[in-house]
Formats: sequence, C-alpha cells, structure tokens
Amino acid sequence: VNNIEARTRSAFCYAPGKAILVGEHAVVYGASAIAIPIENGVRVAITDTESHLKKQGIGPLMRGVGTFLFGEAYIGERSFGPAPIKAMLNYLVEIFSKDIEDLVIIVDGSLPPGRGLGFSAALSVAVIKAIDRYLELGIDNESLYKHANALETIFHGRPSGIDHAAVINNRPIGFRRDKDQGIHWPIHIGCDMTMVVAWAGPHDGTKNAVQMLKQRKERHHDLYENIFKGLDNLSKAMEKCLIEGSLVEVGELMNIAHGYLSAMMVSTPELDRLCSIARGRGALGAKLTGAGGGGAMIALSEDQGSKLMQAFQDAGYPCMVTTIKKTIS
Ligand code: PMV
Repeated sequence: VNNIEARTRSAFCYAPGKAILVGEHAVVYGASAIAIPIENGVRVAITDTESHLKKQGIGPLMRGVGTFLFGEAYIGERSFGPAPIKAMLNYLVEIFSKDIEDLVIIVDGSLPPGRGLGFSAALSVAVIKAIDRYLELGIDNESLYKHANALETIFHGRPSGIDHAAVINNRPIGFRRDKDQGIHWPIHIGCDMTMVVAWAGPHDGTKNAVQMLKQRKERHHDLYENIFKGLDNLSKAMEKCLIEGSLVEVGELMNIAHGYLSAMMVSTPELDRLCSIARGRGALGAKLTGAGGGGAMIALSEDQGSKLMQAFQDAGYPCMVTTIKKTIS
C-alpha cells in the first residue's frame, strides 16, 4: 500500500496570466502602473511517478505540454532543454534541495509565452506553489515573492516585479517601485469590464525591449522623464476611473497610453494595426500590453467581446476574452 501511495503522490497549481493596463516600461523607472489578471493561465502538475529518472542522472524534469510549450528540460549529468528553463530548475534545486531531484514537473496552459501576458511569472508562481504543496512546506508570502522575483530575473534580467505581483494577487492591482522595493495595492473595480486580448507573434523579449529603451532614454533623458511622469499621471487617472466604473474614460486613457508607448518606440506596425482593428469595431480603447516590440494588444470592449473576437478572427489573429468582475468590497 505504501508503494502505491508513494507512486501516486502529486500536487497541482494554477496561476493566471496578466495584462498591464497602463504603465509598462515607465514602471521600471518608478512610475505607477496597473495590471489585471487574465483568464488564460499556466497549470502545473508535480509527480514522483518517474523516479527512475533520478537513477539516470536526470531530474528534476520539466515537461511543457500543449501548443505553445517547450518539450522537455532537465538538469543533472545529462542536462537538456532551453537555457532559462534549465536555469530555473537549477534555482529550484538550490532552494528546495535534493527533495525535488526525482520530480517530474508537467506544465500545461492556455497562455502563449513571449507575448507580454505574464507567462514566465505565471510559470514561476505556479511551479513554486506546486512544489510547496507537494513537499507540504507551507511557504510564506514573502518567500513566494522572493523566489518568483529570482525566477523572473532569470527570464527578464531586472524585472520591476509587476508581473509576479499581478499573478500572485490574481486581482487588479496598482504597482510602483520605491527604493528597489515593489509596492502593490488592490484596485476595486466599479463595474464589470470585458477585455479582448489579441496577438500577432512573440515579442523580441522583455530584457531586450527594456535595454533598448534604456539606451534611448540615455540619449533623450528629459523627454523620457516627461513621458514617465505623463504615464504616472495617466495611471493615477485610470485608477480613479476604474474605481468609479467610468469605462469610456478608461478606454480613452488606454488610447493615450498606447500613444506614449508609440512615442517610446515599443509599438510595431502590427500592434498599431491590432489597435486600429479594435477601435474600428467599437472598442472603448486599445493599447499594446507588456514589453512591446511584438506580442499582445488589449482592448476594452463595449459589450461581451464577441464583436471584437470576430474582428480579430476575421483578420487572422489569435485572441481571447477576459472579464473582470466588479469588486464586491
Ligand atoms: O514581460 P512583459 O512583456 O510582460 O513586460 C513586463 C513589463 C515591463 O514594464 C516592460 C518590464 C518590467 O519589468 O516591468
């Protein structure tokens, strides 16, 4: 009986993706930003049913299944797989020690990676929480943030922290960096909102986009500072409109945010096209979301989102709908 129990032990966790409503990039320089969870996310299952892998010097093993994912990755004597996933496994062994060496971590999900929708944050949070459940450690919130930040650093370089804060909280949040610390607070939404997210292809990588922007900022320091200040004001105005449930204004502010992002040169012709499609079909507002240079656009729908979904599908773009419910406080 013990044997069967040992072989069927498993743990699961789900973490949502996120979309930034306002303040990406500027948040790296201290401006406030707003993020929402989206309905597509990452699922992780952990089992020890393939413990023979340990004997082969493989493990822990991560297996990404589903349309968008990466196949197999493992470390140890016969290391294999994408470098960031292997670096992630090495970090996990460092913090959870040999206890995880014979585990198989299966990743599945409906969230495409590399589109600015928080895939790496969702993966990081779901994996840490699933291992914590599996080992029955009862990890505290502070450690969860710390480890998620360390894993996000592997994927992004120097993350502001907004992605994993949005994923961990799984509700709309305001976020700001203050003296290298991420501060976040809940935003109580005044009415239901439907967002449609569409994307063209992967972006050029958050690390790259943040670095290129830094170089442009060095060349045009004061102008960029003014843009960040503008985006900080925009975030504050949007927070107020979200709380009041003034969706027409939220949409207008999203359009302005896209203008600022274009000014910072992180939009692309394709992202501009996605915004035009959305606005042409009656979206209250539309903007790129995340690091830009490709990736996703988010549009605020005036209805349940079917008109916008149809428009993107007709134009050949993958898309998904997310509803944010009015907060009952
Ligand atoms: O990784 P993405 O595409 O979700 O972008 C994260 C948001 C940035 O502001 C561009 C970077 C950061 O660390 O805040």
